[in-house]
Amino acid sequence: MSLFLGIDSGTQSVKAVVYDAESKRVISDGRASHSLIKNLPSGHMEQNPDEWTQAMDIAILQALDKVDRAAIEGIGVSGQQHGFVPLDESGKVIRPAKLWCDTSTLDECGLISEALGGEEQSIEKIGNRILPGFTAPKILWMKRNEPQNFSKLRHILLPHDYLNYYLTGEMFMEYGDASGTAVMDIRTRSWSIEVIEAIDPCVEDYLPALSSSSEPCGNLRPEISEKYGLSQRVMVSAGGGDNMMGAIGTGNVLPGVATASFGTSGTIYAYNEKPVLDPRGEIAAFCDSTGGYLPLMCTMNVTTVSEQFRALFQKDHDALSDSISRAPIGSGGLVLLPYLDGERTPSIPSGSGVMMGINRNTLNPDYMIRAAIEGVTMGMNFGLKRLRELGVTTNEVRLTGGGSRSAAWRRIIADVFGVTVVCMKEDEGAALGGALQSVWCVLRNCDPQTTIESVVEGATSLDESTRLDPNESAVSRYEELQSFQSQLSQTLETVFKDHARFK
Ligand code: XUL
Repeated sequence: MSLFLGIDSGTQSVKAVVYDAESKRVISDGRASHSLIKNLPSGHMEQNPDEWTQAMDIAILQALDKVDRAAIEGIGVSGQQHGFVPLDESGKVIRPAKLWCDTSTLDECGLISEALGGEEQSIEKIGNRILPGFTAPKILWMKRNEPQNFSKLRHILLPHDYLNYYLTGEMFMEYGDASGTAVMDIRTRSWSIEVIEAIDPCVEDYLPALSSSSEPCGNLRPEISEKYGLSQRVMVSAGGGDNMMGAIGTGNVLPGVATASFGTSGTIYAYNEKPVLDPRGEIAAFCDSTGGYLPLMCTMNVTTVSEQFRALFQKDHDALSDSISRAPIGSGGLVLLPYLDGERTPSIPSGSGVMMGINRNTLNPDYMIRAAIEGVTMGMNFGLKRLRELGVTTNEVRLTGGGSRSAAWRRIIADVFGVTVVCMKEDEGAALGGALQSVWCVLRNCDPQTTIESVVEGATSLDESTRLDPNESAVSRYEELQSFQSQLSQTLETVFKDHARFK
């Protein structure tokens, strides 16, 4: 038997899967939650990295409970993208990590962008705009707001790099996750001196070495091998951001496949052999974690919105799906701008939620729930349309993440996207991606010609029972609603800024 551990450290929990490379199946799993730091000012989203390592220990030990530990050969770690983990000289965490969904760094985005010569120049220079989600403005935020902490800073890591460091003692960044820092030029795959100088020249010394995603990170530290009961020879692969690893775990390692993840964030991405740059900067130009590229659109409001509505109306997941099915397509004209945490695509960091169309008919739980689900799905479609405009093929979309488990929501996705959708048999795409990347890493150690495609083949299969084609009349109804949603969002842009003072 040849077993591999895949880990996905998300915003809410850590998931671990044990993958059997001979049967090409996940044979065991584990999960443990961690939490956001409470009562921070609006827009600040932070977590304590030690909670990630504690949750990872629990999830790994659960997953290993019933398997032959001696058969474990590799581990691959996926993590939420963009978080800034600041470490001191001795590798200790200086302050909590600001996360991908933190929107408090708007001023710093402006300052870095200005130093680069504006948004267009920024795309020209590094492939991306400087957005609050990304890591670069978080570093400048610490320098401007917490100079004492900044003076202790010696190492900058991303969430999955920190977990790799915990497992192996090694610090480095692979190209996939590093492309989400907005400090790396995604075409040359090197740190941008201009961005570094816009933050602080010292940052050059604090960034770790960049490395290919196919290279190993290292072997387990003795304390970790003892804690997990695994051999010290177990190899930890480079790992990557959750979307990069989700791409591997959904078989999105060849052109023509697109994945949509309905999780805490909403993302749609598609493998490409060449970089895909968006002159408008709505699509992020990322590298993937197999040596290619992963143009990606991200919204910040998906299951956070559905969960808030579910809690508000005290429904379980089945009752939420029943509510969706009871209300009509378009929810009687009730339209939600779902920007509960601000929004990244479209770029409205200071936005908040708006519901338009409340009347005697629509002011009821079923209509409001359906409008919420339609609102977040149209929000994602805004990015899907842009991906298509940039030439990314999306004939069929593979679904992953909690939101795609509801058949009623899947129907809305097919009709809003206007494309056939299908779920994966193994739903933990990012954790599976971690395991598959580690298989690739171990096999490459013996035969450097081993391809990721050969590793993924047979390991990522579609759940054909979930396949749904779009319903043409619903597609045209949603097209109209979508253009109304965009119009409403644009109209309120300045109003959102003004309203921010009441938060
Ligand atoms: C993508 C993004 C999110 C996080 C969620 O750019 O910010 O999808 O990776 O963990």
